[in-house]
Amino acid sequence: MTTRLDIQSLPTTADLGFSGGRDNFRAFCRQVFRTKEPRFLRTPGDQLVVFRHADLMLFGTAPEVGNLPIGRMYPDRFREGASPERSPGWEIGEVIGSQVFTFNPPLHGPARRMLLNWLGPKQVGRMEDLARSVARHVVGKIGNGETIDLVSTVADAVVVGFWSRLLHLTEQEEAAIGRCAHEMTRLFHANRSQEDVAALGKAFAEYARLLDLAATRGLEKGDPAMLDIAARLKELDFPDDPDEVGLVPKSVGAVLAGNLVDGFHTAALAAANTFHALLENPEAMATVRGAPETLPRAIAEALRLEPPVLTLSRYVLRDFHFDGLVVPAGNTITMMWAAGNHDPSVFPDPERFDMSRPQAGLTTFGSGIHICPGRYAGVMLTRVMLEEFFAQGLDFRNTGTPAQWIPDHFMNQLRTLPIGISRPQ
Ligand code: HEM
Repeated sequence: MTTRLDIQSLPTTADLGFSGGRDNFRAFCRQVFRTKEPRFLRTPGDQLVVFRHADLMLFGTAPEVGNLPIGRMYPDRFREGASPERSPGWEIGEVIGSQVFTFNPPLHGPARRMLLNWLGPKQVGRMEDLARSVARHVVGKIGNGETIDLVSTVADAVVVGFWSRLLHLTEQEEAAIGRCAHEMTRLFHANRSQEDVAALGKAFAEYARLLDLAATRGLEKGDPAMLDIAARLKELDFPDDPDEVGLVPKSVGAVLAGNLVDGFHTAALAAANTFHALLENPEAMATVRGAPETLPRAIAEALRLEPPVLTLSRYVLRDFHFDGLVVPAGNTITMMWAAGNHDPSVFPDPERFDMSRPQAGLTTFGSGIHICPGRYAGVMLTRVMLEEFFAQGLDFRNTGTPAQWIPDHFMNQLRTLPIGISRPQ
């Protein structure tokens, strides 16, 4: 016999002090993993919260647990006959509706392959020279003795510069899309204000316009990646189904805009968080400086310790049965992916940076058929930035001014990371 999981009787994340943001997340993990109970939590809005490593794997890999469809995010908006009225922040939904994050089978697989054919490991390997030339330029401008904010001066600049160059944007357009990416941070505020929503609407409209321009330009120039996306897009012959399967993107620009939100935004967090973890762990910094081949391992450990994504939503497509329990179809689930990396049953002494610990089971990028398709690009950008600092002989150190993490936030995101630089003369 199966029992329906009684979500409403679970303790809330707020009961355990979690309101979002990195420091709060750390305190939450220290407390919640002290005992084996509760197995699950709920959000103050009554969504099931999955946070233990074994359960993240169980739910994350179950075919019954899919992506949150766009029509469930915006009830009534995408249905036939829906009101054409544009509410504040309307442009966000326009962009997100083309994101693989909102697709389920049968659209999910081919749409995801379309992305991976562009951003798979081999393809990203061929993009490395471009990333390096952007990083060389950005890092090359930093002077000896300067104190810089690593977030804006390096991480954001390299990430935005890389995608902009890859997508044929001009310097002026790069600056504009950089401003949009900066505003996207508001998307992850736990308590979005009206001002946030208005700013997001403007930023998403401009960002979508620029990526549409990039797609038109890329197609005109015969960019093979853009041509491949256009050809594969034609094969996505599915009727629009906002409540489950998703909406087939209407153009190459829509594919780019939808799926590069994390490209422009989250990838920069990965770089900044990795620098932060290394600055806090001088021994590890010395190791990677002396042996750059250890960088991939160091980055994986840095992102375990400081995973950019704290929580993301999934959606129960079909009744999900496990361990004599059932979570009925139609439930939205909060997957606290970052907590998997801090579960001491898998990563003992989780707050310790330990490059030698086994790395199987990291939850930084999710798991199962939805595991992040942008992870090769994200990790490559982080590695190339660090390699460029080392290649130019730059030394960096904590300035004593503490790093600022954004509070009440669903990302583990630094607002600023001041570092002091010395450059060999
Ligand atoms: C580097 C930092 C990044 C982190 C920490 C990150 C993290 C994640 C996580 C946790 C998921 C959820 C996976 C799941 O539900 O199992 C995800 C999915 C996804 N990510 Fe990323 N991501 C990053 C970068 C990127 C980049 C650079 C892109 C695009 C270029 C991207 C595009 C996506 C897409 C489209 C999905 C949905 C995949 C699907 O449902 O099949 N991400 N990411």
